[in-house]
Amino acid sequence: MSVTNDIFYAGVNDHQIDLFESQFPVPLGMAYNSYVIMDEKIAVVDTIEAKFTQEWLGSIKKILQGRKPDYLIVQHMEPDHSARIGAFKEEYPDAVVVATAQAFKMIGNYFRGLDLGDKKLTAGNETTLELGRHKLVFYTAPMVHWPEVMMTYDTTDKVLFSADAFGKFGANDVEDPEGWDCEARRYYFGIVGKFGAQVQAVLKKLGALEIRQIASLHGPVLSGDLSHYIGLYDTWSSYRPEKQGVTVAYTSVYGNTGKAARFLAEELENKGCKDVRLFDLSRDDVYEALEYAFMNEKLVLATTTYNNGIFPAMKKFIDLLTERGYKNRKLAIIENGSWGPMAAKVIRTSVEGLQNIEILDTITILSSMSSENEEQLRALAEKLSAE
Ligand code: FEO
Repeated sequence: MSVTNDIFYAGVNDHQIDLFESQFPVPLGMAYNSYVIMDEKIAVVDTIEAKFTQEWLGSIKKILQGRKPDYLIVQHMEPDHSARIGAFKEEYPDAVVVATAQAFKMIGNYFRGLDLGDKKLTAGNETTLELGRHKLVFYTAPMVHWPEVMMTYDTTDKVLFSADAFGKFGANDVEDPEGWDCEARRYYFGIVGKFGAQVQAVLKKLGALEIRQIASLHGPVLSGDLSHYIGLYDTWSSYRPEKQGVTVAYTSVYGNTGKAARFLAEELENKGCKDVRLFDLSRDDVYEALEYAFMNEKLVLATTTYNNGIFPAMKKFIDLLTERGYKNRKLAIIENGSWGPMAAKVIRTSVEGLQNIEILDTITILSSMSSENEEQLRALAEKLSAE
């Protein structure tokens, strides 16, 4: 597949994977992208995940048609992209590795005994590399998503190789029924979400460039109206809600807290709330719940008191939110306890360090919903739909 006349796709699709990074469910598989820029000098952009060495080297060979690559550009050292630097150097020992200084340190740690000798070129921000017709400019992108990351801009074809940024879950050989946004959003908040300030810094750095295509290390090459994708990245990384909707995330041991959460969700829908999404944190994908928590303006946490604290699945969810600097949202809490309800207190303490979180309401259920609780939930639905 060609990206432009001179830029070719050499990535692989992974349908064997169960959990990406050993934690994210990827029902549509995963793509590890790699690219080849053909010119007087040839550059390969990133390697792939370890399982696909032969397929990847075979694709590169086909694209090269007997020629040899001059450069291997290493944008990111996480092993889903860097795993085959050693294999590449065995195949093409004369190729010069281009990476940031920090990436070279990581290469030393990941590939013990690999001696690059003078076949290395250290790139800093705005370092350029001439391939002939193509001139590349590197932009450092620390913490998007590791500290050594850089992006590569092809000034000739106006292609931005964006490392992990603008990536999504899902292999490239299956159609994603939800389009790009949903799995890109789940990827962003799951993996890059903590680093909003760094993403903002990179967006500013790249703001003046004319970009016609974005070639990420995961997911499809983006073309057409790029303002849609860049706009979403700007919203996500500035921690602004994307929709006015309500995410209701609950845990329930014997079903009573779940019943209250469903009651609230139905009340919200009856009041015409459009984007209401209910998650059972013990059973649903917690990263999808995280994605919706960041997407929507309002979040309701409903949980059981457990060991004088909160139920484990809710604790994990709150940890995921706080680690990523959840902010600028409205929150309501529903706690349940049979003799000493504590969950609301623990949740309040967990979120008190977060910025601009407005707690709209706290409702306490004793074992099962009372008629008074039903009234409180109706009032909460009124408040959430009026906001
Ligand atoms: Fe796709 Fe941060 O690795």
